[in-house]
This record gives sequence, C-alpha cells and structure tokens, in this order.
Amino acid sequence: MKLWARMLWALLSGPGGRRGGIPCLAFSSWQSHPPLAGLLSPIGLVSHWTRVFEKRGIPEARESSEYIVAHVLGAKTFQNLKPVLWTQPLTPQQLQCIQVLCSRRLQRVPVQYILGEWDFRGLSLKMVPPVFIPRPETEELVEWVLEEVAQRPNVVEAQGGPLILEVGCGSGAISLSLLSQLPQSQVIAVDKEEAAINLTYENAQRLRLQNRIQIIPFDVTSVGSWTHLLPWSPMDLIVSNPPYVFHHDMEQLAPEIRSYEDPVALDGGEEGMDIITRILTLAPQFLKDSGSIFLEVEPRHPELVSNWLQSHPDLCLNLVAIRRDFCGRPRFLHVQRSGP
Ligand SMILES: C[S@@+](CC[C@H](N)C(=O)[O-])C[C@H]1O[C@@H](n2cnc3c(N)ncnc32)[C@H](O)[C@@H]1O
Repeated sequence: MKLWARMLWALLSGPGGRRGGIPCLAFSSWQSHPPLAGLLSPIGLVSHWTRVFEKRGIPEARESSEYIVAHVLGAKTFQNLKPVLWTQPLTPQQLQCIQVLCSRRLQRVPVQYILGEWDFRGLSLKMVPPVFIPRPETEELVEWVLEEVAQRPNVVEAQGGPLILEVGCGSGAISLSLLSQLPQSQVIAVDKEEAAINLTYENAQRLRLQNRIQIIPFDVTSVGSWTHLLPWSPMDLIVSNPPYVFHHDMEQLAPEIRSYEDPVALDGGEEGMDIITRILTLAPQFLKDSGSIFLEVEPRHPELVSNWLQSHPDLCLNLVAIRRDFCGRPRFLHVQRSGP
C-alpha cells in the first residue's frame, strides 16, 4: 500500500485500527489522488463510520455518524448540508476532528455530549455531562402544558402569568421552552445538582431568557428546605420530569446512559416514586387553588400515583388526566389541586 493510502486507512479505521492519529499535513496530497475523493467526502465518511459503528454494536450508527460529520462541517444535521457539499473533499483538520469525535462515540459517549449541544423544541441547548440529556417525549409534556395554558387565557392576560415551578430542571429544557413560548410567564427552576443549576443558567443566558427565570439549588427531599420557595408562591403550575426509573431497572439502561448520565437524574427509588411523591406532598404549599401539576412518568406510574393520591386525601390533589407518548404508552400525568 502506498504511504498516502496507509495514512488514510489509519485515520479512517479509528481506535480499532492504528491508534495515535495522523499529522494533518499527511493529507496535503490527497487532491492528487482522485479515487480517494469519495472516501474523503462527507458522504463517504458517513458510510465509513456507519459501518464501523455497526460492526462495533454502536446504536443509531448512521444517525451518529451523520450528526458528527454534519457538526464538524458547521451544520446541525446532515440533511442541512447543501447537497453540493456531500461529495466535496474535507480538509485534513476536519477529517481529524471527525476521527476524534467518532472515537468518543465508539466509547459509547452519547452523541449529544459529543456535539456539546442539542435541540429541544427548536431551542439549541448546551449539553454537558453528566447533566440529563432532554428526551423527545419530554417535548410532548411541554406541548401539553402549553395546551392547558392556552385554555386558560384569563390566567395569562389578567395576571401576567403563568408562574411556573419546574422541579429538576437539568439542562433547563422544559423551563426555557415554556418561557420561550409564553412571553408573559415566569419560571422558578430548581434542581439539587450544581451541574444542572449551572447549565440551566448558561442555557438561559444563551437564549436571553435569564430575566424571567429564577434558578435555585433545591433538594425536594430535604426537610424544611422548601420554605426558600415560599416567597414565590402561590404558583399556577408545577411541571417536572423527575427521576422515575425503578431502582432495579437502572442496570438495564443502555451503556450511554449508565456510564455518562447522572444516576441522580434517573433513579426514582424502589418503585420510581421517591421524587414523584415528594413533589406531590409539597405541591399544596405552592400551588394556587385549582393549580396544576404536570409530570412525566413511566407506564406503571399512572396506577401507582392514582393509588397513592387516594391514600393521601389530605393533599386535595386529583389525577385528572393521563396522556400517552408517541409510542402509545401512558407517560404524562395532570394532577390538579381541588381545594384549599
Ligand atoms: C430526568 S432529569 C430531568 C431534567 C430536565 N427537566 C429534562 O427533562 O431534560 C431529573 C432532574 O431532577 C434532578 N433531581 C433529582 N433529584 C432531585 C431532588 N431531590 N431535588 C431536586 N432535583 C432533583 C436531577 O438532578 C435531574 O436534573
């Protein structure tokens, strides 16, 4: 094999092949070898890395390689790249960058952490491990909240609201999405993890929504700490995508999740109810009469939550609606306060 061909092979074969990377200058002569152009183009690299990922059992092999190649070329998705670029040769620096990022994917790093940003309902959010990566189904939770707010225009118009509390804000996805859609709203976003508080703050600044959000370190399980939030109550809504994975299911999570995302964001205790019941217990302190709680849960929770609420009538909370996600699973709950 000629030298240039050996170098190309080493670069493309990633950590499974020759390690250590190739000096970028080694590729300065690629243009004199037209047969390589296909391999060195975005489309060629996507095919190459898709095959490598598939061979190594990396989930979403094509999507991962497309996102990484597009990212290095300054686009969000491969489809966003002008088709004329798909077959254009890349620079040595771009090739090296793709190599580095794809090697991280081979170590099962989630693509969202590799890219360092991810879209949630059209908002581009910075992503930093181990802060929870927002999931597409949570977009449906936000959609439901927006629908409910739209049905109560008096709240918005008369009082300049709604005032919303988000428990467990993570990257800020839910809070910032609500703020961007509800120009009169105010949000109190709380999380027990410093990394999540910092990231929500950064994302709020990035989206210029920082003036309508209070970001407060707060652990819903710590006794008495909720009094910090009283100055903002009563609130119209509480929304949360809490940690709700049953503890014994934690080890079945994908390596991407288990190794890189914060278990505190996922593990909801024995029946996934620890934080859910804590939110429901605290809610009456903060909610207006007939205020609402919107929760993302897993499919066993609607029944568990309903039973739990029935055994806690003193809270005056009723499960008024359950919604299914795009896979048809019951995943979202609307709980309403019914009295003082
Ligand atoms: C499933 S993540 C949701 C993050 C974000 N809302 C989203 O949907 O992308 C749950 C969040 O709850 C936070 N959390 C876990 N336990 C908490 C507690 N006791 N008090 C406050 N926040 C908590 C975690 O740090 C994590 O950011």
